[in-house]
Amino acid sequence: GTTRHYNFEIKMQNVTRLCHTKSIVTVNGKFPGPRIVAREGDRLLIKVVNHVPNNISIHWHGIRQLRSGWADGPAYITQCPIQSGQSYVYNYTIIGQRGTLFWHAHISWLRSTLYGPIIILPKLGVPYPFPKPHKEMPIIFGEWWNVDTEAVISQALQTGGGPNVSDAYTMNGLPGPFYNCSAKDTLKLKVKPGKTYLLRLINAALNDELFFSIANHSLTIVDVDAVYIKPFKTNTLIIAPGQTSNVLLQTKSNFPNAKFYMLARPYVTGQGTFDNSTVAGILEYDGHQQKNPKKTLPIYKPNLPSLNDTSFVTNFTKKLRSLANSQFPANVPQKIDKKFFFTVGLGTNPCNNNKKNQTCQGPNGTMFAASINNVSFVMPNVALLQSHYKGQSNGVYSPFFPNSPLIPFNYTGNPPNNTMVGNGTKVVVLPFNTSVELIMQDTSILGAESHPLHLHGFNFFVVGQGFGNFDPNKDPQNFNLVDPVERNTVGVPAGGWVAIRFLADNPGVWFMHCHLEVHTSWGLKMAWLVLDGKLPNQKLLPPPADLPKC
Ligand code: C2O
Repeated sequence: GTTRHYNFEIKMQNVTRLCHTKSIVTVNGKFPGPRIVAREGDRLLIKVVNHVPNNISIHWHGIRQLRSGWADGPAYITQCPIQSGQSYVYNYTIIGQRGTLFWHAHISWLRSTLYGPIIILPKLGVPYPFPKPHKEMPIIFGEWWNVDTEAVISQALQTGGGPNVSDAYTMNGLPGPFYNCSAKDTLKLKVKPGKTYLLRLINAALNDELFFSIANHSLTIVDVDAVYIKPFKTNTLIIAPGQTSNVLLQTKSNFPNAKFYMLARPYVTGQGTFDNSTVAGILEYDGHQQKNPKKTLPIYKPNLPSLNDTSFVTNFTKKLRSLANSQFPANVPQKIDKKFFFTVGLGTNPCNNNKKNQTCQGPNGTMFAASINNVSFVMPNVALLQSHYKGQSNGVYSPFFPNSPLIPFNYTGNPPNNTMVGNGTKVVVLPFNTSVELIMQDTSILGAESHPLHLHGFNFFVVGQGFGNFDPNKDPQNFNLVDPVERNTVGVPAGGWVAIRFLADNPGVWFMHCHLEVHTSWGLKMAWLVLDGKLPNQKLLPPPADLPKC
């Protein structure tokens, strides 16, 4: 592979959307941020220079970072943040991955404006396992707030209540014609008839899973999370924050007498308030309007599933299967060394009334919290990876993350009473090459809610999912160990469970969290610590000299 250099200058930039101008944190003044384009096997050297007052850290979401955990990016997990006036070079090689991923800030809520696509082409001369597209284009979904998102989350954490929701969804930073003052800010895809286009879809929204559809055109899904799948056709797809998907769009063979909306709006399972708006882009056949200048073309709208259509989501996710052929085998761990059962969900913490001005707007005068196995994760003040590497973990983290919930959990559809969670900075320690099976069960304590869980440093196989209580005697009999989908972010179904398997072949400290940013802020996160193997090529590389200090 080649080495590719990028410069990310973090600076403030005035950006106007919905008639509101605000100063936002950007990379190189761009919103959304610049694309990274590389080939499988390439090395990336990305110099991030922080010119803003905020602490900064960038995560390369979905990149496996084999042995290069120092470049993964989550603040206080693998590195201390890059302080104002400082810089850090992220140095990593893309091994065994091709498709679409994305980069985003991984500190506080800065990823609301700091994000951009990562496009990984196959190695030179290696074709796609599907017809070569005429053109490729990324569509990155995001959320726009008229107010400062840092203030939104800090206020929510202060008061214990839910944060304000976004004012718009966006595609490539553009809200589209259904919002105030936004008709000029509409994503337009110009296509030619009779061609195939590859759309690289990325959900970089903070808090919302999205349905996406293009009127009168079906899409063929060819990969998810930068792993090829068995292609299938659909009119609508569901994409959770942290998920990416490559889809083929086949255009009509003749100029149609219409334009077509591309719409995205949320899939909502929780009970809180949410942004119930719709972002629209327009697909138009290039040259058509010019041929008929007198005629205004009608615009067709797609039908999207209803907001809480869990059965659509279930049917859709069941169709996702690995290619599992000789060129792209599915290396599903068959023999399991260690099994874990994690409950994931929302809960509450007692209100801390001795802080002045604290109003405790959470449920029943408490504060919102979220937890895994009743542990609400507390961010440390120094990076876990450094403390581990230097053998200075004492007082930073505990290696005793519970393998199963502290309070036995029984999903009956009626919320149990044990809403209180405990706080802690705890990790699971795994010897190198442990094969892991993890069941994640939605607790539905404050209402059944889908949680898109993201694991850093690994892809995992989604071997099973279901509703109600996971049954350890019955459900594993139906696991798919042949061609389960391989990915880095999976929705734990609302009121249900999901089973994943992965091989812990990557030494380092790896964050796992709900990719709904508000749930991460409330503590729905933990970390896996994978120890070095015995062989030299099974060890974490030494830290780079410019690694930021806390
Ligand atoms: Cu895309 Cu830890 O995140």
